[in-house]
Amino acid sequence: MNRAGIVIVGGGQAGFQVAASLREAGFADPVTIVGEETALPYQRPPLSKAYLAGKADADSLSLRPESYLAEHRIALMAGRVATGIDRDARRLRLADGESLAYDHLVLATGSRNRPLPVPGADLDGVRQLRGLADADVLKAAIGTARRVAVVGAGFIGLEFAAVAAALGLDVTVVEAMARPMARAVSAEMGAFFRAAQEGFGVRFAFEAAVEAIEGADGRVTGLRLSGGEVLAADLVLVGIGVLPNQELAAGAGLAVGDGIRIDAMLATADPAISAVGDCARFPSPFAHGLSQDGSVRIESVQNAIDQGRCLAARLTGRPSPYAAVPWFWSDQGPYKLQMAGLAGPADPSVVRGTGEAFSVFRFRDGALSGVESVNRAADHMIARRLLAAGTPLTPAQAADPGFDLKALATART
Ligand code: APR
Repeated sequence: MNRAGIVIVGGGQAGFQVAASLREAGFADPVTIVGEETALPYQRPPLSKAYLAGKADADSLSLRPESYLAEHRIALMAGRVATGIDRDARRLRLADGESLAYDHLVLATGSRNRPLPVPGADLDGVRQLRGLADADVLKAAIGTARRVAVVGAGFIGLEFAAVAAALGLDVTVVEAMARPMARAVSAEMGAFFRAAQEGFGVRFAFEAAVEAIEGADGRVTGLRLSGGEVLAADLVLVGIGVLPNQELAAGAGLAVGDGIRIDAMLATADPAISAVGDCARFPSPFAHGLSQDGSVRIESVQNAIDQGRCLAARLTGRPSPYAAVPWFWSDQGPYKLQMAGLAGPADPSVVRGTGEAFSVFRFRDGALSGVESVNRAADHMIARRLLAAGTPLTPAQAADPGFDLKALATART
Protein backbone atom coordinates (compact mmCIF):
# COMPACT_ATOMS: atom_id res chain seq x y z
CA MET A 1 0.00 0.00 0.00
CA ASN A 2 1.21 3.51 -0.78
CA ARG A 3 1.74 5.42 2.42
CA ALA A 4 0.85 9.12 2.49
CA GLY A 5 3.35 9.72 5.27
CA ILE A 6 3.58 12.72 7.52
CA VAL A 7 2.50 16.16 6.39
CA ILE A 8 3.73 19.13 8.42
CA VAL A 9 2.03 22.50 8.14
CA GLY A 10 4.61 25.19 8.79
CA GLY A 11 8.26 25.34 7.78
CA GLY A 12 9.57 27.23 10.80
CA GLN A 13 11.87 25.96 13.51
CA ALA A 14 9.31 23.52 14.95
CA GLY A 15 8.02 22.10 11.68
CA PHE A 16 11.50 21.68 10.27
CA GLN A 17 12.66 19.96 13.45
CA VAL A 18 9.88 17.38 13.21
CA ALA A 19 10.97 16.53 9.67
CA ALA A 20 14.69 16.36 10.52
CA SER A 21 14.12 14.28 13.65
CA LEU A 22 11.82 11.86 11.81
CA ARG A 23 14.58 11.14 9.32
CA GLU A 24 17.20 10.87 12.08
CA ALA A 25 14.98 8.25 13.72
CA GLY A 26 14.87 6.26 10.49
CA PHE A 27 11.31 7.12 9.45
CA ALA A 28 11.00 5.87 5.88
CA ASP A 29 7.61 7.10 4.61
CA PRO A 30 7.15 10.45 2.85
CA VAL A 31 7.70 13.65 4.85
CA THR A 32 6.23 16.82 3.42
CA ILE A 33 6.44 20.37 4.77
CA VAL A 34 3.83 22.84 3.54
CA GLY A 35 5.15 26.34 4.25
CA GLU A 36 3.75 29.75 3.46
CA GLU A 37 7.18 31.36 3.25
CA THR A 38 9.36 30.92 0.18
CA ALA A 39 12.79 30.79 1.85
CA LEU A 40 14.36 27.57 3.07
CA PRO A 41 13.52 27.01 6.76
CA TYR A 42 15.57 29.56 8.70
CA GLN A 43 16.38 30.80 12.20
CA ARG A 44 14.34 33.77 13.38
CA PRO A 45 16.28 35.04 16.41
CA PRO A 46 19.02 36.80 14.37
CA LEU A 47 16.34 38.81 12.52
CA SER A 48 16.07 41.24 15.43
CA LYS A 49 19.79 41.04 16.25
CA ALA A 50 22.79 40.27 13.99
CA TYR A 51 20.83 40.18 10.71
CA LEU A 52 19.18 43.53 11.37
CA ALA A 53 22.52 45.01 12.36
CA GLY A 54 24.05 43.79 9.08
CA LYS A 55 26.33 41.30 10.83
CA ALA A 56 24.80 38.13 9.36
CA ASP A 57 23.62 37.42 5.80
CA ALA A 58 20.47 35.59 4.72
CA ASP A 59 22.31 32.37 3.81
CA SER A 60 23.72 32.07 7.32
CA LEU A 61 20.16 31.96 8.69
CA SER A 62 19.17 28.73 6.91
CA LEU A 63 18.68 25.81 9.27
CA ARG A 64 20.11 23.42 6.63
CA PRO A 65 21.22 23.78 3.00
CA GLU A 66 18.86 22.76 0.21
CA SER A 67 20.93 19.60 -0.39
CA TYR A 68 19.98 18.38 3.11
CA LEU A 69 16.29 18.36 2.20
CA ALA A 70 16.94 16.35 -0.96
CA GLU A 71 19.27 13.90 0.77
CA HIS A 72 16.76 13.33 3.53
CA ARG A 73 13.75 13.15 1.22
CA ILE A 74 12.00 16.05 2.90
CA ALA A 75 9.61 17.57 0.37
CA LEU A 76 9.32 21.31 0.95
CA MET A 77 6.22 22.83 -0.61
CA ALA A 78 7.31 26.44 -0.16
CA GLY A 79 5.01 29.38 -0.74
CA ARG A 80 1.94 27.20 -0.23
CA VAL A 81 -0.88 27.92 2.19
CA ALA A 82 -3.02 25.28 3.91
CA THR A 83 -6.65 26.30 4.23
CA GLY A 84 -8.54 23.32 5.60
CA ILE A 85 -8.39 19.82 6.99
CA ASP A 86 -10.73 17.02 5.99
CA ARG A 87 -10.25 14.83 9.04
CA ASP A 88 -12.43 11.95 7.84
CA ALA A 89 -10.58 11.64 4.55
CA ARG A 90 -7.23 12.57 6.14
CA ARG A 91 -6.52 15.26 3.59
CA LEU A 92 -5.07 18.74 3.90
CA ARG A 93 -6.55 21.35 1.57
CA LEU A 94 -4.35 24.06 0.07
CA ALA A 95 -5.32 27.55 -1.08
CA ASP A 96 -4.62 26.71 -4.72
CA GLY A 97 -7.19 23.91 -4.70
CA GLU A 98 -4.76 21.02 -4.37
CA SER A 99 -5.12 18.62 -1.46
CA LEU A 100 -2.62 16.30 0.20
CA ALA A 101 -3.28 12.96 1.84
CA TYR A 102 -1.67 12.32 5.22
CA ASP A 103 -1.27 9.43 7.62
CA HIS A 104 -0.36 11.92 10.33
CA LEU A 105 -0.70 15.70 10.22
CA VAL A 106 1.52 18.02 12.26
CA LEU A 107 0.39 21.58 12.87
CA ALA A 108 3.46 23.78 13.29
CA THR A 109 1.75 26.95 12.15
CA GLY A 110 3.54 29.32 14.54
CA SER A 111 2.27 32.73 15.49
CA ARG A 112 1.73 36.11 13.91
CA ASN A 113 2.23 39.63 15.19
CA ARG A 114 -0.57 41.15 17.17
CA PRO A 115 -1.84 44.17 15.25
CA LEU A 116 -2.02 47.58 16.95
CA PRO A 117 -5.69 48.51 16.72
CA VAL A 118 -5.39 52.28 16.24
CA PRO A 119 -6.02 54.64 13.32
CA GLY A 120 -2.97 55.06 11.12
CA ALA A 121 -1.52 51.60 11.78
CA ASP A 122 -1.50 50.97 8.02
CA LEU A 123 0.60 54.05 7.17
CA ASP A 124 3.82 53.56 5.28
CA GLY A 125 6.71 53.41 7.71
CA VAL A 126 4.76 51.45 10.36
CA ARG A 127 6.42 48.05 10.58
CA GLN A 128 6.37 44.77 12.42
CA LEU A 129 9.03 42.08 12.63
CA ARG A 130 8.35 38.39 12.32
CA GLY A 131 9.87 36.90 9.20
CA LEU A 132 12.80 37.41 6.86
CA ALA A 133 10.76 39.63 4.54
CA ASP A 134 9.87 41.93 7.48
CA ALA A 135 13.52 42.06 8.53
CA ASP A 136 14.63 43.03 5.01
CA VAL A 137 12.15 45.90 4.91
CA LEU A 138 13.14 47.04 8.39
CA LYS A 139 16.84 46.80 7.66
CA ALA A 140 16.42 49.09 4.66
CA ALA A 141 14.22 51.45 6.70
CA ILE A 142 16.74 51.92 9.51
CA GLY A 143 19.30 52.89 6.89
CA THR A 144 17.35 56.06 6.10
CA ALA A 145 15.23 56.73 9.21
CA ARG A 146 16.23 59.29 11.83
CA ARG A 147 13.57 59.17 14.50
CA VAL A 148 12.21 55.81 15.51
CA ALA A 149 9.28 55.05 17.78
CA VAL A 150 8.91 51.51 19.10
CA VAL A 151 5.58 50.33 20.49
CA GLY A 152 6.12 47.61 23.09
CA ALA A 153 9.11 47.13 25.40
CA GLY A 154 9.15 43.36 24.95
CA PHE A 155 11.88 41.25 23.39
CA ILE A 156 11.34 42.39 19.81
CA GLY A 157 10.98 46.07 20.71
CA LEU A 158 14.06 46.16 22.92
CA GLU A 159 16.31 44.14 20.62
CA PHE A 160 15.31 46.41 17.78
CA ALA A 161 15.79 49.53 19.92
CA ALA A 162 19.33 48.45 20.82
CA VAL A 163 20.25 47.91 17.15
CA ALA A 164 18.67 51.21 16.05
CA ALA A 165 20.33 53.19 18.85
CA ALA A 166 23.72 51.68 17.97
CA LEU A 167 23.21 52.98 14.43
CA GLY A 168 22.81 56.47 15.87
CA LEU A 169 19.04 56.74 15.44
CA ASP A 170 16.89 58.65 17.89
CA VAL A 171 14.78 55.93 19.59
CA THR A 172 11.77 56.18 21.92
CA VAL A 173 10.01 53.09 23.25
CA VAL A 174 6.36 53.37 24.25
CA GLU A 175 5.17 50.66 26.63
CA ALA A 176 1.74 50.00 28.14
CA MET A 177 3.12 48.56 31.38
CA ALA A 178 5.27 50.28 34.01
CA ARG A 179 8.49 48.46 33.08
CA PRO A 180 10.18 46.59 30.22
CA MET A 181 9.56 42.89 29.54
CA ALA A 182 6.97 42.74 32.32
CA ARG A 183 5.42 39.59 30.82
CA ALA A 184 8.62 37.61 31.11
CA VAL A 185 11.08 39.00 33.64
CA SER A 186 11.29 40.32 37.20
CA ALA A 187 11.18 43.97 38.19
CA GLU A 188 14.88 43.72 39.07
CA MET A 189 15.90 42.47 35.64
CA GLY A 190 13.52 44.93 33.98
CA ALA A 191 15.18 47.80 35.85
CA PHE A 192 18.63 46.63 34.73
CA PHE A 193 17.62 46.54 31.07
CA ARG A 194 15.82 49.85 31.31
CA ALA A 195 19.03 51.47 32.56
CA ALA A 196 21.09 49.59 29.95
CA GLN A 197 18.83 50.79 27.15
CA GLU A 198 18.92 54.33 28.48
CA GLY A 199 22.70 53.99 28.41
CA PHE A 200 22.40 53.20 24.67
CA GLY A 201 20.49 56.48 24.31
CA VAL A 202 16.98 54.97 24.19
CA ARG A 203 14.13 56.94 25.82
CA PHE A 204 11.05 55.33 27.35
CA ALA A 205 7.43 56.28 27.86
CA PHE A 206 5.93 53.77 30.31
CA GLU A 207 2.25 53.28 31.16
CA ALA A 208 1.55 54.93 27.85
CA ALA A 209 -1.21 54.20 25.37
CA VAL A 210 -0.94 54.93 21.67
CA GLU A 211 -4.14 56.60 20.53
CA ALA A 212 -3.26 57.03 16.87
CA ILE A 213 -0.43 56.95 14.42
CA GLU A 214 -0.23 60.23 12.55
CA GLY A 215 0.92 60.67 9.00
CA ALA A 216 1.17 62.93 5.98
CA ASP A 217 0.87 61.84 2.35
CA GLY A 218 0.42 58.25 3.48
CA ARG A 219 3.66 58.18 5.50
CA VAL A 220 4.02 58.07 9.24
CA THR A 221 5.03 61.28 11.01
CA GLY A 222 4.48 60.35 14.64
CA LEU A 223 2.65 58.61 17.46
CA ARG A 224 -0.14 60.32 19.36
CA LEU A 225 -0.32 59.13 22.98
CA SER A 226 -3.47 59.20 25.08
CA GLY A 227 -2.28 62.26 27.01
CA GLY A 228 -2.27 64.17 23.72
CA GLU A 229 1.52 64.21 23.38
CA VAL A 230 2.83 63.50 19.88
CA LEU A 231 6.16 61.71 19.41
CA ALA A 232 7.64 62.59 16.04
CA ALA A 233 8.82 59.50 14.13
CA ASP A 234 9.66 58.57 10.55
CA LEU A 235 9.72 54.85 11.41
CA VAL A 236 7.50 52.97 13.86
CA LEU A 237 8.09 49.38 14.93
CA VAL A 238 5.14 47.67 16.58
CA GLY A 239 6.21 44.77 18.83
CA ILE A 240 3.25 44.09 21.09
CA GLY A 241 3.26 40.32 21.22
CA VAL A 242 1.93 37.55 19.02
CA LEU A 243 -1.22 35.54 18.36
CA PRO A 244 -1.10 31.79 17.73
CA ASN A 245 -2.06 30.61 14.25
CA GLN A 246 -4.82 28.28 15.37
CA GLU A 247 -7.47 28.90 12.70
CA LEU A 248 -6.69 25.75 10.72
CA ALA A 249 -7.20 23.63 13.84
CA ALA A 250 -10.33 25.52 14.91
CA GLY A 251 -11.78 25.18 11.43
CA ALA A 252 -11.33 21.41 11.68
CA GLY A 253 -13.23 21.29 14.97
CA LEU A 254 -10.17 20.84 17.19
CA ALA A 255 -10.04 22.56 20.57
CA VAL A 256 -8.28 25.95 20.69
CA GLY A 257 -7.94 28.71 23.27
CA ASP A 258 -4.84 30.91 23.02
CA GLY A 259 -3.24 28.04 21.14
CA ILE A 260 -4.12 24.66 19.70
CA ARG A 261 -4.94 22.41 22.65
CA ILE A 262 -2.69 19.39 22.91
CA ASP A 263 -1.94 16.89 25.65
CA ALA A 264 1.43 16.07 27.21
CA MET A 265 2.17 13.80 24.24
CA LEU A 266 1.64 16.81 21.93
CA ALA A 267 -1.49 15.18 20.48
CA THR A 268 -4.82 16.82 19.69
CA ALA A 269 -8.07 14.94 20.28
CA ASP A 270 -7.68 13.54 16.76
CA PRO A 271 -5.10 10.72 16.94
CA ALA A 272 -3.94 11.60 13.42
CA ILE A 273 -3.16 15.27 14.26
CA SER A 274 -0.50 16.74 16.55
CA ALA A 275 0.77 20.27 17.12
CA VAL A 276 4.16 21.74 18.09
CA GLY A 277 5.81 25.11 18.70
CA ASP A 278 4.40 28.62 19.11
CA CYS A 279 0.91 27.61 17.98
CA ALA A 280 0.41 24.92 20.64
CA ARG A 281 -0.94 25.09 24.19
CA PHE A 282 0.12 22.15 26.32
CA PRO A 283 0.22 21.04 29.96
CA SER A 284 3.68 21.69 31.40
CA PRO A 285 5.14 20.58 34.73
CA PHE A 286 6.77 24.04 34.84
CA ALA A 287 3.46 25.87 34.51
CA HIS A 288 2.07 24.63 37.83
CA GLY A 289 0.26 27.55 39.46
CA LEU A 290 0.79 29.80 36.44
CA SER A 291 -2.46 29.20 34.61
CA GLN A 292 -5.68 27.68 35.90
CA ASP A 293 -5.24 24.37 34.13
CA GLY A 294 -1.42 24.27 34.18
CA SER A 295 -1.21 24.74 30.42
CA VAL A 296 1.09 27.14 28.57
CA ARG A 297 1.98 28.27 25.11
CA ILE A 298 5.67 29.00 24.73
CA GLU A 299 7.22 31.16 22.03
CA SER A 300 10.84 30.07 21.87
CA VAL A 301 13.40 28.27 19.77
CA GLN A 302 14.04 25.81 22.60
CA ASN A 303 10.38 24.84 22.76
CA ALA A 304 10.11 24.50 18.98
CA ILE A 305 13.14 22.22 18.79
CA ASP A 306 12.36 20.11 21.85
CA GLN A 307 8.70 19.62 20.90
CA GLY A 308 9.74 18.74 17.36
CA ARG A 309 12.09 16.07 18.71
CA CYS A 310 9.54 14.77 21.22
CA LEU A 311 6.85 14.40 18.58
CA ALA A 312 9.16 12.74 16.06
CA ALA A 313 10.16 10.24 18.77
CA ARG A 314 6.50 9.38 19.42
CA LEU A 315 5.75 9.01 15.73
CA THR A 316 8.64 6.57 15.40
CA GLY A 317 7.62 4.41 18.34
CA ARG A 318 9.37 6.05 21.30
CA PRO A 319 6.59 7.97 23.05
CA SER A 320 7.24 10.10 26.12
CA PRO A 321 5.50 13.13 27.58
CA TYR A 322 7.01 16.51 26.77
CA ALA A 323 8.89 17.76 29.84
CA ALA A 324 11.83 19.84 28.57
CA VAL A 325 12.94 22.76 30.75
CA PRO A 326 11.96 26.03 29.04
CA TRP A 327 14.82 28.43 28.30
CA PHE A 328 15.19 31.59 26.30
CA TRP A 329 17.61 34.41 25.60
CA SER A 330 17.60 38.01 24.41
CA ASP A 331 20.58 40.04 23.15
CA GLN A 332 20.38 43.78 23.74
CA GLY A 333 23.55 45.66 22.85
CA PRO A 334 26.41 43.99 24.70
CA TYR A 335 24.08 42.32 27.22
CA LYS A 336 22.74 38.80 26.96
CA LEU A 337 19.71 38.00 29.06
CA GLN A 338 19.24 34.28 29.68
CA MET A 339 16.14 32.75 31.22
CA ALA A 340 15.31 29.26 32.43
CA GLY A 341 12.02 27.94 33.78
CA LEU A 342 8.66 29.71 33.74
CA ALA A 343 8.40 32.45 36.34
CA GLY A 344 5.06 34.19 36.85
CA PRO A 345 4.78 37.96 37.27
CA ALA A 346 4.05 37.59 40.99
CA ASP A 347 6.85 35.13 41.80
CA PRO A 348 9.14 36.59 44.49
CA SER A 349 12.75 37.34 43.53
CA VAL A 350 16.10 36.61 45.14
CA VAL A 351 19.09 38.38 43.59
CA ARG A 352 22.52 36.73 43.39
CA GLY A 353 25.49 38.79 42.21
CA THR A 354 25.81 42.52 41.68
CA GLY A 355 26.35 45.26 39.11
CA GLU A 356 26.37 44.01 35.53
CA ALA A 357 26.64 40.33 36.45
CA PHE A 358 23.74 38.95 38.42
CA SER A 359 20.90 36.45 38.40
CA VAL A 360 17.37 36.72 39.71
CA PHE A 361 16.05 33.50 41.20
CA ARG A 362 12.26 33.32 41.21
CA PHE A 363 10.12 31.16 43.48
CA ARG A 364 6.51 29.98 43.34
CA ASP A 365 4.92 28.16 46.25
CA GLY A 366 8.39 28.00 47.81
CA ALA A 367 9.95 26.16 44.86
CA LEU A 368 12.31 27.49 42.20
CA SER A 369 10.22 28.59 39.20
CA GLY A 370 12.74 30.40 37.03
CA VAL A 371 16.13 32.08 36.86
CA GLU A 372 17.04 35.18 34.84
CA SER A 373 20.73 35.91 34.33
CA VAL A 374 22.85 38.60 32.79
CA ASN A 375 26.59 37.95 32.44
CA ARG A 376 26.21 34.87 34.67
CA ALA A 377 26.09 32.06 32.12
CA ALA A 378 27.05 29.49 34.76
CA ASP A 379 23.96 30.34 36.81
CA HIS A 380 21.81 29.80 33.73
CA MET A 381 23.23 26.34 33.09
CA ILE A 382 22.91 25.44 36.78
CA ALA A 383 19.31 26.64 36.78
CA ARG A 384 18.47 24.39 33.85
CA ARG A 385 19.92 21.41 35.69
CA LEU A 386 18.14 22.21 38.94
CA LEU A 387 14.81 22.66 37.17
CA ALA A 388 15.23 19.52 35.07
CA ALA A 389 15.99 17.39 38.11
CA GLY A 390 13.49 19.15 40.37
CA THR A 391 16.29 19.63 42.90
CA PRO A 392 14.95 21.62 45.86
CA LEU A 393 16.52 25.06 46.40
CA THR A 394 15.35 27.45 49.09
CA PRO A 395 15.23 31.24 48.72
CA ALA A 396 17.71 31.48 51.62
CA GLN A 397 20.19 29.22 49.80
CA ALA A 398 19.82 31.24 46.60
CA ALA A 399 20.41 34.47 48.53
CA ASP A 400 23.58 33.16 50.23
CA PRO A 401 26.60 34.04 48.03
CA GLY A 402 28.60 31.33 49.84
CA PHE A 403 26.11 28.58 48.98
CA ASP A 404 27.57 26.26 46.32
CA LEU A 405 24.88 26.08 43.64
CA LYS A 406 27.06 24.13 41.26
CA ALA A 407 27.63 21.40 43.81
CA LEU A 408 23.89 21.19 44.39
CA ALA A 409 23.19 20.94 40.66
CA THR A 410 25.79 18.25 40.06
CA ALA A 411 25.11 16.19 43.20
CA ARG A 412 23.55 12.83 42.45
CA THR A 413 20.16 12.63 44.05
N1 APR B 1 1.01 49.61 23.63
C1 APR B 1 2.24 49.54 24.17
N2 APR B 1 2.78 48.40 24.62
C2 APR B 1 2.05 47.28 24.48
C3 APR B 1 0.74 47.27 23.93
C4 APR B 1 0.22 48.52 23.50
N3 APR B 1 -0.98 48.60 22.94
N4 APR B 1 0.28 46.01 23.96
C5 APR B 1 1.25 45.24 24.50
N5 APR B 1 2.33 46.01 24.82
C6 APR B 1 3.60 45.58 25.37
C7 APR B 1 3.52 44.49 26.41
O1 APR B 1 3.28 45.05 27.69
C8 APR B 1 4.92 43.88 26.31
O2 APR B 1 5.86 44.55 27.11
O3 APR B 1 4.33 44.98 24.31
C9 APR B 1 5.29 44.08 24.87
C10 APR B 1 5.27 42.79 24.04
O4 APR B 1 6.35 42.00 24.44
P1 APR B 1 6.44 40.45 24.17
O5 APR B 1 5.23 39.79 24.74
O6 APR B 1 7.79 40.01 24.60
O7 APR B 1 6.27 40.30 22.59
P2 APR B 1 7.25 40.73 21.39
O8 APR B 1 8.33 41.61 21.85
O9 APR B 1 6.35 41.18 20.30
O10 APR B 1 7.92 39.37 21.00
C11 APR B 1 7.12 38.32 20.48
O11 APR B 1 8.97 37.15 19.53
O12 APR B 1 11.13 37.47 20.45
C12 APR B 1 10.13 36.58 20.08
O13 APR B 1 9.47 34.60 20.98
C13 APR B 1 9.74 35.91 21.31
O14 APR B 1 7.74 35.83 22.52
C14 APR B 1 8.53 36.64 21.76
C15 APR B 1 7.90 37.05 20.45
